[in-house]
Amino acid sequence: APDIPLANVQAHVNALQNIATNNGGNRAHGRPGYRASVDYLQAQLNAAGYTTSLQQFTSSGATGWNLIADWPGGNADNVLMSGAHLDSVSAGPGINDNGTGSSGLLEVALTVARTNFQPEKHLRFGWWGAEELGLVGSTFYVNNLPGTERAKIKGYLNFDMIGSPNPGYFVYSASGQPTGSIDIQRALEAHFTGIGVPTELTSVGGRSDHAAFARAGIPIGGLFTGAEGIMTAAQAQKWGGSSGVAYDRCYHRSCDTTSNVNATALDRNSDAIATAIWSLSGPVAPPGP
Ligand code: PHE
Ligand code: CA
Ligand code: ZN
Ligand code: ZN
Ligand code: ZN
Repeated sequence: APDIPLANVQAHVNALQNIATNNGGNRAHGRPGYRASVDYLQAQLNAAGYTTSLQQFTSSGATGWNLIADWPGGNADNVLMSGAHLDSVSAGPGINDNGTGSSGLLEVALTVARTNFQPEKHLRFGWWGAEELGLVGSTFYVNNLPGTERAKIKGYLNFDMIGSPNPGYFVYSASGQPTGSIDIQRALEAHFTGIGVPTELTSVGGRSDHAAFARAGIPIGGLFTGAEGIMTAAQAQKWGGSSGVAYDRCYHRSCDTTSNVNATALDRNSDAIATAIWSLSGPVAPPGP
């Protein structure tokens, strides 16, 4: 898989920060900063050649949107989907949660286009609304998929918080989830193995959008650098972090700004996303005649 340029991921993170700053300090469901975030991503995906659509829903009396982007080509009956929530809490700009996952995944999608990657599977990307209200957007998407379409999604990869300031390197445990996939787990571990960074398995339960896909029986996996949890001494030693301190002490707070992102973690996780998507999407089409 290609190396994902950290500078490009950081440019997206900075753009989301600017959107929040210019829209009352957040990118929350029902607020103008959410819609501006959607518009920022959609414009870049369209320019890169994606087929995009907005799926509208209502939650708590406000309109929300999921942004869906399909990379043309591949086997339409064999879909690999990846997603990240794009909304913030109303308390702050939501940069680590989840500007990082949204931006890393956006840059991976743009790299698919830039390299004209033509995998055997069909690639689909989703940026979810109203995750912070209880996985509302992703649940709406899954519940509104016809059974035939749902059955075509062979795997779902979730990225929620991948640049925590005191980062842990967590991979969703295949055995800790109802439909956890060992293939997805291993694919997400591969980049870290390659660079010699140890990972830990984590059971994120129902705390992010993968849960909507798991409930529908779709194999899932994901990456996470930690939220309000406290880094142990052993973790601090192996990852070079701060023992006894939260992975993200600005979790769901106004201080979740661009200062609240560890660039190394963001780079490693963005590269790990690319490695997994490239390896899970099957052999590239053979060269034409
Ligand atoms: N979904 C949580 C949030 O957005 C973050 C989280 C992700 C927590 C994964 C645990 C595991 O606030
Ligand atoms: Ca990189
Ligand atoms: Zn959150
Ligand atoms: Zn989140
Ligand atoms: Zn790397």
